[in-house]
Amino acid sequence: MDIPADLITTVHNANHVVFLTGAGVSAESGIPTFRDALTGLWANFDAEQLASADAFRRDRELVWGWYEWRRMMVMKAKPNAAHRAVAEISSEVRRVDVITQNVDDLHERAGSQNVIHLHGRLNRPVCFACQRPHELSPGIPDEPEGGRRLAPPRCEYCGGYVRPGVVWFGEPLPRREWNAAVAACETCDVLFSVGTSSIVQPAASLPSIAARHGAMVVQVNPNWTSLDDVAAFNLAGGAAVVMPALFEAVRARPR
Ligand code: OAD
Repeated sequence: MDIPADLITTVHNANHVVFLTGAGVSAESGIPTFRDALTGLWANFDAEQLASADAFRRDRELVWGWYEWRRMMVMKAKPNAAHRAVAEISSEVRRVDVITQNVDDLHERAGSQNVIHLHGRLNRPVCFACQRPHELSPGIPDEPEGGRRLAPPRCEYCGGYVRPGVVWFGEPLPRREWNAAVAACETCDVLFSVGTSSIVQPAASLPSIAARHGAMVVQVNPNWTSLDDVAAFNLAGGAAVVMPALFEAVRARPR
């Protein structure tokens, strides 16, 4: 994959780079995206039936079982070349922030520090009643088929039901993470939007915030998104091919 020379120069000279990542980054680790027509998570399950507080109230065993299945998938997966390239680029740029919509921990496992999780994390469940964190038992959970019911654990403090530590439809984003993401976008020189459909708000507004503050916006995605019209460069390809090529090109450029 050829990376445009102007882009290499801009990244090379940048003090602060932001990566805004979505499900496409983890796709090549075997984690399904949400909206891909055939393989996406929502293709086999009705999101509204599974990813909301109402759904949990209605059928908590169905919801907990589905999220445990996803957590198990993530624990068995490995970071791919895109996660690694994002982590490695910190050695070439003074400041790098990773803002992810993904609820997996593959950026961290590839070596990225201080990842901002806008949509929460599968491995940080909390009590549905009192919001206190719940410690999960170590090890990979039983292999529930997608959709198999599983009783959620009870909170050790209040006895409430434990829920997945992710942001559901109708819920606000965690305030601290959102503020940190906006602050990073306001000061970065380059923002890469990688593997996200740029549909879900407010995360989808971050590239425009960066652009308004003078950053160059670059998109990495094999498919069209609404960001195509905003981005200075569209690198059309899989993240696990494009991101290592970018890293190598930046590293190879003489200082
Ligand atoms: P989507 O499933 O909406 O979009 C995935 C994007 O990744 C699409 O634009 C694909 O074209 C692209 N893609 C697929 N394979 C790729 C690859 N190998 N390399 C690069 N890109 C690839 O996932 P998100 O945009 O992450 O929210 O979805 C955003 C949010 O919607 C999720 O965080 C989730 C969901 O509702 C919550 O759970 C709160």
